[in-house]
Amino acid sequence: MQKKIIVLNGPNLNLLGTREPDTYGTTTLDEISALVATHATGHGLASDFRQTNIEGTLVDWVQEAGKSADGIILNAAAYTHTSIALHDAVSAIETPVIEVHLSNVFAREEYRHHSFISDVAAGVICGFGATSYILAVDALAAMLRNN
Ligand code: DQA
Repeated sequence: MQKKIIVLNGPNLNLLGTREPDTYGTTTLDEISALVATHATGHGLASDFRQTNIEGTLVDWVQEAGKSADGIILNAAAYTHTSIALHDAVSAIETPVIEVHLSNVFAREEYRHHSFISDVAAGVICGFGATSYILAVDALAAMLRNN
């Protein structure tokens, strides 16, 4: 059966394209969604791509993906640095989660250096702009091939 990955995006990522382009680039979230879909198809994976500004919705989606998806790519945006609820949701599921960030959070403000996701994620990719998502698809595809 075809394996499925789901990409979950948190607050303000709907503004990509115009939001702080020096930090996040000019690629829109719709463009990233299209790139991910094409790349996932190339790996033989089905994909779903979502964005919300609401923390609880991200928690709901992580729980849902824990049952319905084989792998998760999570850019929790600012909730990365604040959300114990998301940490607990990722801990509660077996499905592997790759944490991604467009920017290199370690080269930015100190409050972005801590993530509540990293210690429960399968891996972390940050700093490559939209390519972070593509690298995460490659990482999940490799993990799922070995399963
Ligand atoms: C981000 C980094 C976070 O620190 C920030 O709050 C974001 C985006 C990134 O993709 O670089 O909204 O997750």
